[in-house]
Amino acid sequence: MKVTVVGAGAVGASCAEYIAMKNFASEVTLIDIKEGFAEGKAMDLMQTASLMKFDTKITGTTNDYSKTAGSDVAVITSGIPRKPGMTREELIGINAGIVKSVVTSLIEHSPNVIIIVVSNPMDTMAYLAHKATGLPKNRIIGMGGALDSARFKFRLAEALGCPQSDVDGMVIGGHSDTGMVPLIGKAARNSVAVSEFLSEERMQQVVEDTKVGGATLTKLLGTSAWYAPGAAVSSMVQAIACDQQKMFPCSALLEGEYGLNDISIGVPCIIGKNGIEKIVEIELSDAEKAKIHESAEGVKKTNALLG
Ligand code: LAC
Repeated sequence: MKVTVVGAGAVGASCAEYIAMKNFASEVTLIDIKEGFAEGKAMDLMQTASLMKFDTKITGTTNDYSKTAGSDVAVITSGIPRKPGMTREELIGINAGIVKSVVTSLIEHSPNVIIIVVSNPMDTMAYLAHKATGLPKNRIIGMGGALDSARFKFRLAEALGCPQSDVDGMVIGGHSDTGMVPLIGKAARNSVAVSEFLSEERMQQVVEDTKVGGATLTKLLGTSAWYAPGAAVSSMVQAIACDQQKMFPCSALLEGEYGLNDISIGVPCIIGKNGIEKIVEIELSDAEKAKIHESAEGVKKTNALLG
């Protein structure tokens, strides 16, 4: 299993690191436009192999896509990250051009590759990748829900005063501060609804803190976060590599599911060796349905900017 990670910045390098540490891939190729940067990150990471006990070979290249040839999975993290006060949507002008050229170069050298899009605004970049390549819809997956759900679980555990391994929860909808739909009504602590433990007010606080999870970190760090995004994407790569048939909320191209069409947005998906094996249509309450449709309106507005 060969994985290419496009963009050797913080998210790309952290993704490569987690993939290597989990030791399921034979090779990870980091590629970046900045001269020597991916080579440097790859060498630094390779010098941790004997210490961290992994056998994955990590290589780096400056913009030479021939080195990515034969990749089974590619992760696109390239583009500019947000600065404090910026929304993900404000990045569209620069990132759209980058993502379009990256997907074209990737497919040229790896015709069977499954692509995971991380660059923001993520749902729109995933939609653009579909439109630019015409690849079967199972082979382009947007990473947002896995990260947002991890942040939701962090906030749930914080509110409940329990370890994260006690909680379960999922965030669907767009990967944006206003578009995320944390499914608080379905969140549970060891199968017991969280409403048994938390007041309505505290649950709403968890929802609001989850939605601004990325913005909170951008304010603290001065740039976009990387550990949780890297970990989330590495879990998705592993689900493909190991054909885990694992359920993640992912940005998938919808054709009627959830009453939505011609949009890539976060919905529960089964991830396995073919990428998106299945889009799962779960029963939503009327309030949840209204929220995902409102979220879709927002994503469509951003998609319209592509033109
Ligand atoms: C975040 C970026 C990756 O939410 O969108 O941290």
